[in-house]
Amino acid sequence: MVKNYRIAVIGGDGTGPEVVREGLKVLNVAANKFNFTYETKEFDFSGRRYLETGKLVDESDIAELKNYSAIYLGAVGDPKVKPGIIETGVLLKLRFALDQYINLRPVKLYNSVYCPLKDKLPEDIDFVVVRENSEGLYKGMGEFQNKGMKDEVAIQISHNTRKGVERCLRYAFEFTRKRNKRKKLTLCGKTNVLTFAWDLWERTFNELAIEYPDVTTDYAHVDATTMWFVKNPEWFDVIVTDNMFGDIITDLGAMIQGGMGIAAGGNINPQGVSMFEPIGGSAPKYTGQNVINPLAAICAAGMMLDTLGEVKAAKAIEDAVIKIVSTKLKSLGAGKMGYSTSQVGDLVAENL
Ligand code: IPM
Ligand code: MN
Repeated sequence: MVKNYRIAVIGGDGTGPEVVREGLKVLNVAANKFNFTYETKEFDFSGRRYLETGKLVDESDIAELKNYSAIYLGAVGDPKVKPGIIETGVLLKLRFALDQYINLRPVKLYNSVYCPLKDKLPEDIDFVVVRENSEGLYKGMGEFQNKGMKDEVAIQISHNTRKGVERCLRYAFEFTRKRNKRKKLTLCGKTNVLTFAWDLWERTFNELAIEYPDVTTDYAHVDATTMWFVKNPEWFDVIVTDNMFGDIITDLGAMIQGGMGIAAGGNINPQGVSMFEPIGGSAPKYTGQNVINPLAAICAAGMMLDTLGEVKAAKAIEDAVIKIVSTKLKSLGAGKMGYSTSQVGDLVAENL
């Protein structure tokens, strides 16, 4: 039986719609080639819509999205909206309300010429960050005391539950096993200073490790992790960390794999609806110029197919991306690729 998927598409702001268009172009070719079908519906969640209507993502939107197989997101964020509103009202709202408790970010160098590190080859930079995506500092807990006064205090709490930590760690162990590369899982934390949160993380990690004797475990402080990303990225296979640290280290990860033009991620609810996105943001200054690199969005579409079970199609997309970055593109940067946004989409589609 031919499988059919329902994809909710959120183009969003800035260059989001442009890169999503290329991702859908590639998806269309993949569907024909690998014999699945899909239907899409566009959802207008964006800074632009917020400015026009005051609307963000509400409960009825969430209820509707729950009927989809996956969500494909371009980028949200408009420089005319005060920072924090769209982030909380759209992106984090979707992640939290759909309980996408894993943020999966592969860091893979496809061509060493795009790597800012000296003498690093594709085989040296090939790891995955499993970022907890529903708790920690992102829960937004805290308060002001004496706001505006000379003795003001601002408290921001990292809220970690045993349940939340355990489900993230278990996902990471399972993922490391299934990835079946070096089968090494590194916990990235800060046990030497943040002695409540990271005690819970470390204890839970060590308990679960007993159930996964085939997975080698390791621990690295987050500050040292950033150092090793630059010095010895080849040490890593899978890294698991909390929401805040994961946010920070994956931007560095994106840089060593060649930049935001190629970095994709998935917000995963293993039992529910997951959402896939290029992690680079809406890049307002490149909007509408057909110069932005769509490969991150195309790779995100590949991750979406992989998660949906279309493993062959996902692999074919990745292979096509590797082929064109090795043989065609001059750079992964916006405006420097030697091709326009839509031409890069065409190249991937033709090479599928
Ligand atoms: C990311 C982004 C978001 C985050 C912002 C836009 C809320 O930086 O996806 O990494 O902090 O998670
Ligand atoms: Mn980020």
